[in-house]
Amino acid sequence: MSPVRIKRRYIILVVGVGLIILFAVTQFRCYESSDDTNYDILKFERELIARNFLIELLNDIDTKDDSYNSDVIELIDRVTQWNVNHDIMRQIIFVGGVPRSGTTLMRVLLDAHKNISCGQETRIIPRILKMISQWNKSSKEVQRLDEASLDENAINRVMGVMFMQIFREQSEGTPEHFCNKDPFNLAHIHDLENIFPNAKFILMIRDGRAVTHSITTRGVTISGVDIRSEEKVLGFWNSACENMIRECSYINHKYAHPHCLEVFYEKLISDTERELKRVFTFLDITWDNRILHHEQLVDNGGIKLSKLEPSSKQVSKAIYNESLYKWRSELSPRFLVKAHESAPLLARLGYT
Ligand SMILES: *[C@@H]1O[C@H](CO)[C@@H](O)[C@H](O)[C@H]1NC(C)=O
Ligand SMILES: *[C@@H]1O[C@H](CO)[C@@H](O)[C@H](O)[C@H]1NC(C)=O
Ligand SMILES: *[C@@H]1O[C@H](CO)[C@@H](O)[C@H](O)[C@H]1NC(C)=O
Repeated sequence: MSPVRIKRRYIILVVGVGLIILFAVTQFRCYESSDDTNYDILKFERELIARNFLIELLNDIDTKDDSYNSDVIELIDRVTQWNVNHDIMRQIIFVGGVPRSGTTLMRVLLDAHKNISCGQETRIIPRILKMISQWNKSSKEVQRLDEASLDENAINRVMGVMFMQIFREQSEGTPEHFCNKDPFNLAHIHDLENIFPNAKFILMIRDGRAVTHSITTRGVTISGVDIRSEEKVLGFWNSACENMIRECSYINHKYAHPHCLEVFYEKLISDTERELKRVFTFLDITWDNRILHHEQLVDNGGIKLSKLEPSSKQVSKAIYNESLYKWRSELSPRFLVKAHESAPLLARLGYT
């Protein structure tokens, strides 16, 4: 081996080890100072820079000692992989339910907690999950991905990184707990749990007749549902809610501790503090008194609302119960008489 090559290898080794030490020290510092809210993003950038820098250095050197090069790359990749694994093992909170069941209220209440960030709905995640489950039904598409070395675990990791980035882009700073509210996420608990094994799910449930009233009077569009017909909307509620309850109990049977919590909207409205404390025990997150005054935090206090979400106006006020049973007098008697027949889930959930 020529002296020049030995010298270069020595330089790479010193620079590489130096970068890794620098990296470890700065990471440690960032974890120590909790007011450095951007540590995750900075850490990720440092990793990328360190990795690319080393690979560039290696490329510069015309060495035939490939095993040495791949050792260095593997080491750097392991550090990057650590970051991906760390993200995927987070306890992401997913809030959902049939639309108009209080999902926005729940996420706004969680957003009032200092260390939780949910944000407005995007519909991106349930749409992507739906698309993937459609591919998954075609054995040819599954085979195509296998041939391309993308097995299910690889696809799940890619989804995890992408979804995490969506959560980061949506939140200010780096909150301790990321949360996402999209009603139809709760129809995909299986898939989300494959991506984030420590995720927790909050399923909002509300009387199907109240949901029907809200969807039809507000004209909330739901793809595949004819919202001009109260019967059809109630039928949709029955099957969608049943499916979400099934997904929720599937995951609760899988683990020793519950990963999915059913929250009844009517109870949340009439016994707010008690229901919320139950939610925080389930999440294993410290209670924050700001939650009981969420309306003071809307807009300037950090809770952002979307102009496109039909509940934004309601949830910007303190919780009120005047319209909880308005549907009883506003839905047609003909519809109400037949409701239990067309929606057996009502009785099963105790809605008489
Ligand atoms: C794809 O299908 C397999 C077998 O039916 C199932 O185990 C897996 O969870 C599905 N994955 C996704 C992402 O839908
Ligand atoms: C609504 O709130 C008021 C005042 O807190 C209470 O007296 C009343 O019983 C509540 N009504 C319902 C339907 O929960
Ligand atoms: C928020 O996080 C900080 C830092 O981890 C912690 O000191 C504080 O107690 C948390 N606040 C609440 C309300 O959980």
